[in-house]
Amino acid sequence: MAKGVSAADDVDIVKGEVLYDDGTHRFIWLGWEEHEEEGLVQVNQYLIENKGTGILLDPGGIHVFPRVVANTSRYIDLGRIQHIFFSHQDPDVSSGIALWLSVTPAKIHLSKWWVRFLPHYGMFDMSRIVPIEDNGGRIQLSSGDSLELIPAHFLHSVANFHVYDPKSKILFTGDLGAAIFPKGGRYPFVKDFDSHIRLMEGFHKRYMASNSVCRKYMDKVLKYDIEMIAPQHGAIFKKEHVKRFWDWFSGLRCGSDIINEIY
Ligand SMILES: [Fe+2]
Ligand SMILES: [Fe+2]
Repeated sequence: MAKGVSAADDVDIVKGEVLYDDGTHRFIWLGWEEHEEEGLVQVNQYLIENKGTGILLDPGGIHVFPRVVANTSRYIDLGRIQHIFFSHQDPDVSSGIALWLSVTPAKIHLSKWWVRFLPHYGMFDMSRIVPIEDNGGRIQLSSGDSLELIPAHFLHSVANFHVYDPKSKILFTGDLGAAIFPKGGRYPFVKDFDSHIRLMEGFHKRYMASNSVCRKYMDKVLKYDIEMIAPQHGAIFKKEHVKRFWDWFSGLRCGSDIINEIY
């Protein structure tokens, strides 16, 4: 495990957990609601704190807003949230945009293909939107550090990005790596990879576009040194499971590969 990376097993799932801390840079999982609700997909939000500047990754919608605000405020003043990243357009990712713009001075980073849909979430101030081009790029932070935006189109959204943090070496993968827990069966870190696959399979087979897309993405992502994979749903993968995850994912038959099963 790299310097600064932590992830204790006795995690407070309501308050969240610091995944990495080197004294000037932190990567924080922001926890879950105390009570699991039937019919609601459980979501993960993350805060990166870099030398006094905050970046939120997929902070989500109205339902989780009070808890995400409370847990973010444990680590940084909301007035210091300079950037909010949305991996894609889905409501569990970005429907709280108007609320977040009202309580932070942040710029919003989102694929250029989804910008025109934002007014439907009640957001009309385009001066605070930074559209991401298809080839990705980076979010430049005021400290001089930056975060890398990795294209992950069609996994599942047609215009979709992941974030690689070079300091913590944590890869935020949005819906990729998502697991759907049965009620009462949630856990924040993957322990048994084989049993965890069963919680990921259905989601990935139906929501991801095709194996050719999976492999296209893998061509890009394998060049990164990754300590953890942090998805927007389900559990976080520590270093010992990263290679197994890629092995599973690169062989996945999904979407158009199994179209006859779907129609
Ligand atoms: Fe999604
Ligand atoms: Fe999602």
